[in-house]
Amino acid sequence: MLLLSSLTALLGLSALAPIGSAARAKSCPVTGGTTDDSKAILAAVTACNNLAGGGSVVLDGTYTIASPLDLRNLKSVDLVITGTITFNGVVSNWAGKLFDLNFQNAQAYWLIGGQDVNIIGQGKGTININGKSFQGETKRPVGLAISGLTGGSVTGLNFKNPGFWYNWIAFSKNVVYDNININGSGANTDGWDIYNSDHITITNSVVVNGDDCISFKPNSTNIFVSQLSCTGSHGVSVGSLGQYPGIYDVVQNVYVKDVTCTNCQHGARIKVWPGAGAGATSGGLSGGGGSGLVKNVTFDGFTVKGGDQDALLVTACYGQSKVDVCTANPSTFKIQDVFFKGITGDVKGKNQAVGSIICPSATSCSNINVSGLGVTSQSGKYNNQLVCDNIDITKILAPATCHA
Ligand SMILES: *[C@@H]1O[C@H](CO)[C@@H](O)[C@H](O)[C@H]1NC(C)=O
Ligand SMILES: *[C@@H]1O[C@H](CO)[C@@H](O)[C@H](O)[C@H]1NC(C)=O
Ligand SMILES: *[C@@H]1O[C@H](CO)[C@@H](O)[C@H](O)[C@H]1NC(C)=O
Ligand SMILES: *[C@@H]1O[C@H](CO)[C@@H](O)[C@H](O)[C@H]1NC(C)=O
Repeated sequence: MLLLSSLTALLGLSALAPIGSAARAKSCPVTGGTTDDSKAILAAVTACNNLAGGGSVVLDGTYTIASPLDLRNLKSVDLVITGTITFNGVVSNWAGKLFDLNFQNAQAYWLIGGQDVNIIGQGKGTININGKSFQGETKRPVGLAISGLTGGSVTGLNFKNPGFWYNWIAFSKNVVYDNININGSGANTDGWDIYNSDHITITNSVVVNGDDCISFKPNSTNIFVSQLSCTGSHGVSVGSLGQYPGIYDVVQNVYVKDVTCTNCQHGARIKVWPGAGAGATSGGLSGGGGSGLVKNVTFDGFTVKGGDQDALLVTACYGQSKVDVCTANPSTFKIQDVFFKGITGDVKGKNQAVGSIICPSATSCSNINVSGLGVTSQSGKYNNQLVCDNIDITKILAPATCHA
């Protein structure tokens, strides 16, 4: 991106050429400043959609969105958001109008999808989710919902004032997020939730939030993450998975590289619900009983600073505080080929270890490999110590050690 932008400046081009797409032939500016600019935005997007040379919708002012905006079925469109979009954050304004994302309690103010779509913020664009008043509601809107997008990018955008997750991406393929700045905490403020999507990349981004920095939800495949700074989060998580009985969840081919997690509750994490509900709950959700596969997941170069509980965690007892309930209802998930490489830093070591890998049965996990661990605990007593169960400890390489 840096190279692209300096090249663009050199050539004196007005619009930054987005990743993977040519400059667009037509420009469709939007004048904002009313109490609801959603009609004006829709009109400009419609005028710039599906043109032979593509279109560029220019949002360089200040805009309010107070009505649902369905921007699926876009083709060859850039949304150049160098101004600020603020959502009307009044809960009653949106009663019965939010899009239902049909997963957990996620809803959306707007939906973006189609083919060859870039959302370009150039580091200046801001999405003010204005979601504070939704905190405490059951159904809450995400900041940016991408649904059914094939080929595209989201770059240089700032997000603030969440009420729920910041970014949702579902039923999408070949989408890149780069240079995203997320800032604002609160309950369930995941940075990204990826669901039923393939070939998604997230790079060079900074997240200050209050829940997972990124969550690879069911059916996330071929995901690449690098150069991510997370502060105050719950870490980078595979899952939670297995929440819904009868549903098979897959997370496969995930590579997470060069993450710094400062004051995070957890670091690199795989979380699976138990094999049956039996009262398991988390964040107002209940669950357990689903099955699935976690395969080929690598965390490579992950630094935890001031970590609260652990630097790495594999659990199949998510949402259930009673271990004996999980033992009686073991998850049927298969967890295979997981590499924790070069996890370093320090944690408080609350649970008498710097991490834990607890598999539900002797046959559920295979090839869980820890190498180059370098994590100290505050007291110095639990340096590089992991709690392990039902794994092949020959793949836990020194200096890491396992105890029960
Ligand atoms: C987040 O926002 C706060 C103020 O709201 C600011 O002090 C802080 O520098 C911001 N952090 C990042 C990483 O942008
Ligand atoms: C994930 O994909 C499988 C097919 O591999 C499908 O059966 C399942 O319903 C999907 N899960 C979700 C949560 O969509
Ligand atoms: C594992 O996942 C990574 C990242 O997506 C991919 O590059 C690699 O080819 C996968 N390995 C196998 C054996 O599938
Ligand atoms: C564990 O992974 C490391 C690096 O990824 C590799 O060099 C090593 O051979 C693996 N160890 C085992 C026992 O599989």
